[in-house]
Amino acid sequence: MENGSSSQATMTELQEVQITEERPLLPGQTPEMAKTHSVETPYGSVTFTVYGTPKPKRPAILTYHDVGLNYKSCFQPLFQSGDMQEIIQNFVRVHVNAPGMEEGAPVYPVGYQYPSLDQLADTIPCILQYLNFSSIIGVGVGAGAYILSRYALNHQDTVEGLVLINIDPNAKGWMDWAAHKLTGLTSSIPEMILGHLFSQEELSGNSELIQKYRNIITHAPNIENIELYWNSYNNRRDLNFERGGDITLKCPVMLVVGDQAPHEDAVVECNSKLDPTQTSFLKMADSGGQPQLTQPGKLTEAFKYFLQGMGYMASSCMTRLSRSRTASLTSAASIDGSRSRARTLSQSSESGTLPSGTPGHTMEVSC
Ligand code: BEZ
Repeated sequence: MENGSSSQATMTELQEVQITEERPLLPGQTPEMAKTHSVETPYGSVTFTVYGTPKPKRPAILTYHDVGLNYKSCFQPLFQSGDMQEIIQNFVRVHVNAPGMEEGAPVYPVGYQYPSLDQLADTIPCILQYLNFSSIIGVGVGAGAYILSRYALNHQDTVEGLVLINIDPNAKGWMDWAAHKLTGLTSSIPEMILGHLFSQEELSGNSELIQKYRNIITHAPNIENIELYWNSYNNRRDLNFERGGDITLKCPVMLVVGDQAPHEDAVVECNSKLDPTQTSFLKMADSGGQPQLTQPGKLTEAFKYFLQGMGYMASSCMTRLSRSRTASLTSAASIDGSRSRARTLSQSSESGTLPSGTPGHTMEVSC
């Protein structure tokens, strides 16, 4: 792990809670322990929950959630989906809550200086040092994707891969600010955050999922804290990715966005700025703004190929998973394979085998 200034900080363990996970067990499976920790960082206390045990010579999967959510409301449907179990049993997981977003978090006092997204990225070395973990595969959504990218730019040796869902690497321009201010005149903070998380079509459709998340955000006891994270997101700096330039992600990256999702254009632009030999772009049809909530199975399938491309999941381990998903993926997926690529994200064929060597590409997954 690189020694960032923040990683030198004294860390005080505030709290440790051990719970046994409530997930239906498969035959022969023992329950996995989940342990919640808090560390003091230069930017306040950060709480995170660790699932599973460290696996030798494997990075931890570290997640960072979006605004309006916490690690559970953002990632539980993905990490508890059936096919994901085969993957995660091979990795310890660290699920970070942005400060003030953990369940039962006290509301910060008026005038509290909430960390910027860059400062939140600087708390990650404290977490890894505390756990004595040396490398990660990051999975982030929205603000969380930005934070993990910033962390990767500053500590590239510790990041083996990144799954970035709905990333917008650009600072708000003056046009965005004007639109944001106008929206703020007529909309509440929860409505603005819902408009960041979901498409207008989804919001007006008012499905059970939308009702659930509208209820979570509208009645959040820590809405003041959520507003602070929201403000930090809207004040983010430009990540300044530049294809072929010095500021770029060096690890394999899987960019994910739903088509018609609020951040589709931003993710498409981000894809154009990253190294095509390291980047795969998954555009998911009919998945709305939060593919990890609406299409956990499809995302798990893509994650599996991503890990395989990194050499972590032998295809022999994955045959059941591959077979179970092959039909749905091959029926409507298109891959643009026109560029050469060192690491590949493979696509299953009709027969269930896993051809490799697919160049840096776009997958459009239709459901
Ligand atoms: C996990 O197994 O990593 C997990 C479980 C519950 C919520 C989020 C993640």
